[in-house]
Amino acid sequence: MIKRNLVKGLVLIILLVNAHITFAGEGMWLPMLLKSLNEGEMQSMGMKMSAEDVYSVNKGSLKDAIVHFGGFCTSEIISDQGLLLTNHHCGYGQIQSHTSLENNYIRDGFWATSMDQELSNPGLTATFIVRMDDVTEAILKGVTDEMNEKTRQATVSKNIELLKATAQLSEYEDISVKPFYKGNQYFSFTTITYKDVRLVGTPPESIGKFGADTDNWVWPRHTGDFALFRIYADENNMPAEYSPNNKPYKPKHFLPISLDGVAQDDFTLVFGFPGRTNEYLPSYAVQQTVDVLNPAKIEIRDKALKIVDAEMRADPQIKIQYASKFARIANYWKKWIGESQGLKATDGVGKKQRFEAEFTKRALNLTDKKKKRKKKKAMAANANAEILPQFEQLYEAIEPYALTRDYFNEVVYRNVELLSTSNYLVRLVNRYENNGEEGYNNYKARLEGYLKGFYKDYQPKVDKKVFAALMELYHKNVPIQAVTGPVDQMLSQRDISNYNGLADYIYDNTLFTRFDGLMRVFAMNPDQAVEKIKADPAYLFMKELTTAYHDNAETQYDEINKKITTLMRSYMKAQMQLFPEKTFYPDANSTMRVTYGKVAGYEARDAVFYKPNTYLEGVMEKYVPGDYEFDVKPKLIDLYEKKDYGQYGENGKMPVCFIGTNHTTGGNSGSPAIDAYGNLIGLNFDRAWEGTMSDINYDPSICRNIMVDIRYVLFIVDKFAGATNLIDEMKLVHPKAK
Ligand code: ARG
Ligand code: GLU
Repeated sequence: MIKRNLVKGLVLIILLVNAHITFAGEGMWLPMLLKSLNEGEMQSMGMKMSAEDVYSVNKGSLKDAIVHFGGFCTSEIISDQGLLLTNHHCGYGQIQSHTSLENNYIRDGFWATSMDQELSNPGLTATFIVRMDDVTEAILKGVTDEMNEKTRQATVSKNIELLKATAQLSEYEDISVKPFYKGNQYFSFTTITYKDVRLVGTPPESIGKFGADTDNWVWPRHTGDFALFRIYADENNMPAEYSPNNKPYKPKHFLPISLDGVAQDDFTLVFGFPGRTNEYLPSYAVQQTVDVLNPAKIEIRDKALKIVDAEMRADPQIKIQYASKFARIANYWKKWIGESQGLKATDGVGKKQRFEAEFTKRALNLTDKKKKRKKKKAMAANANAEILPQFEQLYEAIEPYALTRDYFNEVVYRNVELLSTSNYLVRLVNRYENNGEEGYNNYKARLEGYLKGFYKDYQPKVDKKVFAALMELYHKNVPIQAVTGPVDQMLSQRDISNYNGLADYIYDNTLFTRFDGLMRVFAMNPDQAVEKIKADPAYLFMKELTTAYHDNAETQYDEINKKITTLMRSYMKAQMQLFPEKTFYPDANSTMRVTYGKVAGYEARDAVFYKPNTYLEGVMEKYVPGDYEFDVKPKLIDLYEKKDYGQYGENGKMPVCFIGTNHTTGGNSGSPAIDAYGNLIGLNFDRAWEGTMSDINYDPSICRNIMVDIRYVLFIVDKFAGATNLIDEMKLVHPKAK
């Protein structure tokens, strides 16, 4: 009897452990380590592929269909003619650049009915990963624990250069080396980058951006956030600059598309290029983010957004010009709000503190054990116990500088356009002074292209209002007051009485609010041009702001931050040593990763449970005729009323989006959601509100990524847009019929 109960108990324990495992979702894994770290768990969750099918350097595998889109988003190949799927919001800059009041592709959508209508996008790239390798040994060669940080850096840099110089690369390949686990490991990435990437199709923004900023970061969601591009190659299928003679790229692998849909608990794998996470921060850093840094950044953007929003609503031309910029500012503004709320709601700081208590306990324990044996090791263990107190001091010391830095970046570099543009001119003048006319001319040539695009969408009257509002915040709130010296100086001038007066003075007297003004300067001889730029009030003000910031905050910030980085490397290493029962994944760093999970709803708060799938019914529920964010095109309403869903519907309903437990972040936009067999089932584009803190604190009970159901994409392409030429290129499959 006792024995039987024991067995029962054991079975229960195993079941419980398994139940925990099958809920797994945390982790952004390196594709080439799946075999050793994850394959078993993935298969236990339902995956029918092997790790080799996902990533292989020897044969075609899933990874060959995954493309880094422009270096900031993910995309995937979905036909044997290089057809590329990504998010509408990833292609938004390109879509916007082809849009005018006459050809309003943002409002109406765009569909190339043949390849010769596809639109080229200078500067847009598509990068494939050829292979990745653990190069830790080569990169850390000659590095010792005793070495000071500067020597270590120099040694690492030298080793990286050596590795790059001696790598066996084909003509089109590049190689880069990146640190992982805070510099405890290094991996190299061999890549091929294609440069002729054309726009093939996009839905109108009432589909591609349905719900816009109100629905952004929120579930339930009803956005058809997709756009189609195509990679072109030369006659040998290799990268080439745009040419009408280029041919559609022939991929090593493309993703078949499943028409079978997704159900609760289905296995999902998301492949892509997540940008940046911070999962191993000490509690002090998390606390600072929540209490100090996020609130300041939120307040600044709040101000900027209100101004731009009012201007956009009042003028359709401004709406087009500022659409993409507004979306960019609004996106992280909202993300920071969600992140702070989520960290508070899940006691993110407390969780870290409890982990840290255990860390310290284990470190000291080890010290005691080791003392009896080896003195040197005991000292190393003791050093581990010192890590957290050191962090506490460093984070306290860096706080005013970190806050000042965020103010400066947000105001000067990210939200006042005249200042960020003037900054390019500061650099241009620097080139002239350091590298002479040649340096000046090279930089100017590059700048001209950028500035042409910039001024096409620039409205000085909007920017001037933002300037006045943000300058006031900067002047009043920045903790290191010395950085605002230039503002004090301006305000003390006789004819400048307030921030609006300061804005008037600068915007009315600078040459840089207009492209032709700047071009007149650029037409001069370099020495005259530089003299003219140096006398410009926008340039002067920018230069002074930058110098004051550099001297009084940036230098100090960098110095402390270097210490934090070094300590973080030790902390990461110590965590891995002291918690051998945990499998650690490296923080995201824009390298290729795999995350996997399951289709699952979640309990958002007391008594509120969200189901994992949405349908076209929900679009109609949200529909507000003529609204800025929730309008619906008559054609879509018509299809809905007729239930004309073709092969894409499910039991008389049209699926739109779904969520899963996959651990994703910015950069995973456009990532494919892949089923157990390797077919495309969805397109990642967002995270659900309660879980936006997952970059710092992943919680499997509420962190969900949001994907467009691939059947909605197909339905829009086929039934809404009538672009059957594109459907014909794709390979549609029924894996569940197997
Ligand atoms: N939140 C998603 C991401 O981080 C979508 C952003 C695009 N939409 C927007 N309104 N800005 O990129
Ligand atoms: N929308 C994000 C992006 O642009 C992805 C969503 C997220 O941050 O999880 O990459």
